[in-house]
Amino acid sequence: ASIEKGGFDHFMLKEIFEQPQTIFDSLRGRMDAEQQSITLSGVDKIADKLLKANRVIIVACGTSWHAGLLAEYVIEELCRINVEVEYASEFRYRNPIITDQDVIIAISQSGETADTLVALENAKKQGATIFGLVNVVGSSIARIADAGAYTHAGPEIGVASTKAFTAQLAVLYLIALKVAQLKGTIEATLFNKLLADLAKVPEHVKEILEDQDAIIQEIARKYSDARDFLYLGRGYNFPIALEGALKLKEVSYIHAEGYPAAEMKHGPIALVDDQLPVVFVATKDSYHEKIISNIQEIKARKGKVIAVVSHGDEVAADLADDVMFVPQVHEIIAPILSVIPLQLLSYHIGVNRGLDVDKPRNLAKSVTVE
Ligand code: G6P
Repeated sequence: ASIEKGGFDHFMLKEIFEQPQTIFDSLRGRMDAEQQSITLSGVDKIADKLLKANRVIIVACGTSWHAGLLAEYVIEELCRINVEVEYASEFRYRNPIITDQDVIIAISQSGETADTLVALENAKKQGATIFGLVNVVGSSIARIADAGAYTHAGPEIGVASTKAFTAQLAVLYLIALKVAQLKGTIEATLFNKLLADLAKVPEHVKEILEDQDAIIQEIARKYSDARDFLYLGRGYNFPIALEGALKLKEVSYIHAEGYPAAEMKHGPIALVDDQLPVVFVATKDSYHEKIISNIQEIKARKGKVIAVVSHGDEVAADLADDVMFVPQVHEIIAPILSVIPLQLLSYHIGVNRGLDVDKPRNLAKSVTVE
């Protein structure tokens, strides 16, 4: 069994450490930073639909839904198309308005999630065009889609998704950039900057894993007995706060809530005392000053702050009780890096609590019943 795990104690840790490769594999052959070009035959296939789409509806569950939420922010910003993100289970039952002008992007690691599949069948009947972003080749969602792109994360064994998520983000960035280029909604300089930063993601992820894992193990030790966690982020890092909280719940059974940082004053701030760890996803971006003041608000109430910050950001690092560093890249690309320390934090807390992180109780790798 240890051979299967490549020398790691768990599949989850093995898969976290595979990410430099799986992100690379998901980008490989699809982008050329020097030529400033992206090749995605699935996007070409439905390009006419995408370019005149009324809106894009992203349908997914769980971690894949969090990838979809980030995609909403990115596609709206870069492509100026209306995007909705839907939980498949809600979307399929609530008689949504769908027309043949809509493009649905379905995101699914397994390609077999029942709610997502049925939501697509319904939308297809109403004339929508379906684009699948799926990891498992030949899966049901891959087959029902009109076009698509595979993530190349390889088989994911750990029930809590890690490498499939970052592979989804990598390909979603390519899709957004490609569509923006086709639509002419992105300046060449921004396109080139984003593509160049994307190309560097695998090596940055490697750096985070090498430099931060031991530090995060120490941080995990301090907080393994906490009863609740709060995860806060703004803008592009908000979906990462949600994903960080989900990962912790899944593998440590600690209650965790993800929230938009500014929204905390409308509720979660009531929970803050010296027992509550608050994880901030606070890399340098256009919301930075705002999130710094959110950190101060937590500190003023004696909360413990654990922050993901950009290298060299002394201000955020000094304010936080514990810090996890990531390289600084364009704010649109930053989330694919900020999630890595949060995966490690959850993993180590789960292991400290003596739990089966690869197979948490009550969870299934793929939910093929509703
Ligand atoms: C289950 C898994 C999650 C996954 C979700 C959606 O809940 O435990 O890790 O994110 O299903 O699965 P999918 O295969 O559609 O991405």
